[in-house]
Amino acid sequence: EKVVLAYSGGLDTSCILKWLINKGFEVICYMANIGQDEDFAAAEEKALKIGASKVVIEDIREDFIKNYVWPAVSYGLVYENRYLLGTSLARPCISVGLINCVKQNNASYVSHGATGKGNDQVRFELSCYTLLPDVKIIAPWRIKEFIEKFEGRQDLLKFAAENNIPVSVTPKAPWSMDANLMHISYESGILEDPNQEPPKDLFLMSADPREAPKQGTRLEISFVKGFPVRLIDDETSSIYNEPLEIFLKLNEIGGKHGVGRIDIVENRFLGLKSRGVYETPGVTILHHAHTDLEVFCLDKEIYRVKQTLRDKLSDYVYNGFWFSPEGQYTRKCLDLAADTVEGTVKLQIYKGSVTILGRSSKSSLYNADLVSMDKHSGFSPEDATGFINIHAIRLKEYHRALNE
Ligand code: ARG
Ligand code: SIN
Repeated sequence: EKVVLAYSGGLDTSCILKWLINKGFEVICYMANIGQDEDFAAAEEKALKIGASKVVIEDIREDFIKNYVWPAVSYGLVYENRYLLGTSLARPCISVGLINCVKQNNASYVSHGATGKGNDQVRFELSCYTLLPDVKIIAPWRIKEFIEKFEGRQDLLKFAAENNIPVSVTPKAPWSMDANLMHISYESGILEDPNQEPPKDLFLMSADPREAPKQGTRLEISFVKGFPVRLIDDETSSIYNEPLEIFLKLNEIGGKHGVGRIDIVENRFLGLKSRGVYETPGVTILHHAHTDLEVFCLDKEIYRVKQTLRDKLSDYVYNGFWFSPEGQYTRKCLDLAADTVEGTVKLQIYKGSVTILGRSSKSSLYNADLVSMDKHSGFSPEDATGFINIHAIRLKEYHRALNE
């Protein structure tokens, strides 16, 4: 029987590959290029050497940006006020690739190397079940026989040596990493002590803000229907219009100026707390720019309803429910709100900070005449007296009751 394995090229999934083969499965390795720094040719060679019947490598970067990251920016998704969901968004996108691979190769199983304590197992499996309800899952890190055989890294290394599985010569970093175009996340290992500062050499996408260029830089970002459509880099006067181009450039600029580092303790779906360090340079810039434009453009009450839906959807995405009915429903509502979010935001990027310098929009509800302190127009100021008096009724009553 055929299994499609979400293969990373690393030690864990290489051992899983061999273990599945030993169990009598035909294994097809699926690798998504989602922007991680990976030698795909070398990983392919390695998988074939171990005994994979086929290796499928798919570039899903454009799909990831257009169908997951841009919507997430437009919706303002953020988990527990800080985490921009870089890993959470990648999982459903990769799952689509996995399931296509299952269908194209008449496989019946999906296998992955996510652990039994994390969010990723939930995200992969819930996404796969929604896309192909009859698919069967093999999660070795939840199978008794497997976890008894591989209690620690030493057991994996021993198994690799016995089975001619090539092991990378560069020593493994003492933490676990997940990388894609949007971010890199770091957790476990030495980071499990929540009070232990991450070492300087952990960060791969961004400079330490203290060492970022003193002069900073300026940008202009334009949005249509909530999606970024143009980036102007003031420093070089270059203009970028393609999603991938905009994205990579923002990552480069954000990275150079130390934007988007966070160190948090978060609540996993399973109920445990985990410490994570993240760097999300480009999307942090976009998040600031978009938030500014949104308040400028949207009706006040729509903005408030949107914040509620945003918080809901952020949880759905974190918990693995991207393809759920509630996920689809909230996305549709949020898409409606994005219709009028259009315009350009000017920003300054300086030593880790993102500051808005100005904004302009044809669809904004901002009315300079109406708000001006120098003009008496729009409505009569006496009306404000009534407005305040009516609101004051309840407050005066409250005070009176307290003092009685
Ligand atoms: N805690 C983050 C999340 O749940 C990052 C998970 C990182 N995954 C990994 N396989 N290292 O989205
Ligand atoms: C894992 O457990 O495989 C990584 C962390 C997570 O999924 O939350």
